[in-house]
Amino acid sequence: MSLSLTRSFSVVCAALFSATVTQADELDALFPIPAEVRTILDQRCVMCHGEEIDGEREIREDLIFSTDAEIRETLIDPYFMYELIRDDEMPQEAKLSFRLRRDAKMQERLDQLVADYEAKNEKAVLIKWLTTALKIEE
Ligand code: HEC
Repeated sequence: MSLSLTRSFSVVCAALFSATVTQADELDALFPIPAEVRTILDQRCVMCHGEEIDGEREIREDLIFSTDAEIRETLIDPYFMYELIRDDEMPQEAKLSFRLRRDAKMQERLDQLVADYEAKNEKAVLIKWLTTALKIEE
């Protein structure tokens, strides 16, 4: 094969390969989780995705961010997570579970959590992590 044919062949192969990236590959690409992302997950996400509150774990939508192993087990679609964060649906639009909704302090805590997330522009850190790991062009 001529050099240019070899090159275009490998370009086509690369395109085919990237079209078959699975959700499992995407999940792998999220690890190791950068320290600044881990902090954001702990401070802004675990409250509803893994934290024990009043003797019971909050696990909304079966999704747990508490540990790497639990993320691997429970995060089904990393690209969907990117879309939720990009569109300001998490954590801004998320509601407390019924049992916590009756506690005014929990609502205060959630409002503060969202305010801090926005004030520190943590969305940008999460988006950078996800676009880099998942090779998303913005
Ligand atoms: C106030 C509680 C709350 C907080 C805080 C929260 N979430 Fe959620 N999350 C939910 C609820 C409830 C759902 C289910 C979808 C809905 O009702 O909006 C959900 C769904 C999701 C889903 C979709 C899961 C699936 O398989 O469909 C992802 C991904 C997610 N959250 C990520 C995050 C991230 C990342 C953060 C932190 C930046 C976060 N969440 C913070 C409550 C929360």
